Amino acid sequence: MSNYHIKHLEEYFQVYRNSVRNPEEFWEEIAEEHFVWRRRWDKVLKWDFDAPEVTWFQNAQLNITENCLDRHLDTRANKTAILFEPNNLEEAAQHISYSELHLRVCKMANVLRANGIQKGDRVCIYLPMIPELAVAVLACARVGAIHSVVFAGFSSIALSTRINDCDCKMVITSDGSYRGNKTIDLKGIVDVALEDCSEVSSVLVVNRIGSTIQMKEGRDQWLQPLLDKAKSTFTAEIMDAEDPLFILYTSGSTGKPKGMVHTCAGYMVYTAYTFKNIFQYREQDVYWCTADIGWITGHSYIVYGPLANGATTVMFEGVPSYPDYGRFWDIIEKHKITQFYTAPTAIRALAKEKLEFVEKYDLSSLKVLGTVGEPINEEAWHWYNNNIGKRKSPIVDTWWQTETGGILISPIPYVTPTTPTYATLPFIGIQPALMDENGEEMRENQVEGRLCIKFPWPSMARTIWGNHDRYRDTYFSAYKGKYFTGDGALRDAVGYYRITGRVDDVIIVSGHNLGTAPIEDSINEHPAVAESAIVGFPHDVKGNALYGFVILKETGEGRDRENLKKEINQQITEQIGPIAKLDKIQFVPGLPKTRSGKIMRRILRKIAGKDTKNLGDISTLLNPEVVQDIMDKAL
Ligand code: WT7
Repeated sequence: MSNYHIKHLEEYFQVYRNSVRNPEEFWEEIAEEHFVWRRRWDKVLKWDFDAPEVTWFQNAQLNITENCLDRHLDTRANKTAILFEPNNLEEAAQHISYSELHLRVCKMANVLRANGIQKGDRVCIYLPMIPELAVAVLACARVGAIHSVVFAGFSSIALSTRINDCDCKMVITSDGSYRGNKTIDLKGIVDVALEDCSEVSSVLVVNRIGSTIQMKEGRDQWLQPLLDKAKSTFTAEIMDAEDPLFILYTSGSTGKPKGMVHTCAGYMVYTAYTFKNIFQYREQDVYWCTADIGWITGHSYIVYGPLANGATTVMFEGVPSYPDYGRFWDIIEKHKITQFYTAPTAIRALAKEKLEFVEKYDLSSLKVLGTVGEPINEEAWHWYNNNIGKRKSPIVDTWWQTETGGILISPIPYVTPTTPTYATLPFIGIQPALMDENGEEMRENQVEGRLCIKFPWPSMARTIWGNHDRYRDTYFSAYKGKYFTGDGALRDAVGYYRITGRVDDVIIVSGHNLGTAPIEDSINEHPAVAESAIVGFPHDVKGNALYGFVILKETGEGRDRENLKKEINQQITEQIGPIAKLDKIQFVPGLPKTRSGKIMRRILRKIAGKDTKNLGDISTLLNPEVVQDIMDKAL
């Protein structure tokens, strides 16, 4: 039997060693024992990072939905697969069992097929966090269509760009969505987008909010009547291991988004195996990831990873602030959540609110806490650990990317001792490398450099849709024979990794290499500070100087601003050194953020550099309105 479920540290080290010494044997055993296949592979792995070309489980055949649904019907037919928590409190939660989900996916697959969707066709899904979103994703996989989920907070321009980039034939959307006390007219956004998308011949519309919308004759159809008539069985399309499963767009250093292509077999095996171990999932657990399925976190750790393990996975439609800042904690109590996986930005936002919002609820069901998306600062880590986990739930700081498909560096809870702000050790099968300025790998500990991965893992993206050259140039050309992540990291004395942030966020001040993350951490530890971002701006003597944008906590607002600035710089001086002191500090009401919560330093850099003529497209930001305010008061 393979070590599918790792339970203690020696076992981790033993399995890890085995996985990197004999990767093919290792992954073969996992694939053989824990998944169902229509045809066995001829070879486990073929790879060449120069081409670049990676094949896992060559010539194997499968359908991922048979692994996520059909095979559970014998043992888990009545177990809840998806636990849906609606935005509105008046609406009851829905417990969708494995047999019900299977039925809904089969019906949806029949609707797709009846509307002309064939294996290999691209289908754009633009839906809120409702069960139909998961059903649509799985139905595409069942018919062999390639889904491209676009986060339903993106503008019509962002949507049409993504639809056209991969020539989607169909769009699945809803009349609208609930978001806190607001509704959003999704169908209206789709209508505007489709004025620029001539290839889209059909639009299926979920009735979510019951609003009056325009239906275009011959193109648009309400989904429910089609489902009502659809057959309840659908034989899954047989897919090759390396057939594309989905495309998911992520932003790059240029304006054009990159359509990362993930394939069937390797993605399935790796997301399922990481889910089991990194969340220590057990049969009775109720797992909740607060991400949106519009991001890779939702694909891998709301839908595919959990369902491949027969887990109960929660889908939450709403926002953490509605009806008040206790909503997350309310849901944890209500559904007795055992694993809770969220983003540092959400933790910091909730930590700003009164502790009473947390204290009202019984959070004793929690066993594992997770974070993802950006480095977590110490203060937020401790708040999470003390107030949510009550110091008894390990925090898994999971490092990965849209491109990696699954988590690559993370503690295994109850196995790996954790250290705040450290993603700790590489997961099974993952071979990280830290590169120095000369492009050489640093093999010793206590070094800091650029993070690469030097051996393939099953869930890595295989290409950028329609642009393999860009895939090679972006990820495989900086360091020969290695996948370059774009992140910096340090490895400490015991071999733990700490992600220091994007290397494109590094600022050189007077010839010193400064990462933004540690300086921001230091600023954030000031008791009056809620959050901060620093960027470089041109300076006559130093080359670059540092400009800090700082959000104050409510308690800090009444304080004298000049004194605060001195204290912040004093703190940085103490913790990092005078070199990291800020030349300018601007107090701001908010920071421009992407929908996934990442600070858009590009915009702040332009403001700091007084170069605001061409800010680029800010319509996809979470909070475009703060940009003007920051510009008006720039120093
Ligand atoms: C970038 C990838 C992976 C799902 C969500 C984001 C940063 C991600 C961590 C972490 C420090 C992290 C990296 C990475 N990042 N997780 N635990 N600690 N940084 O996916 O939008 O593709 O972003 O997010 O910079 O490269 P993404």
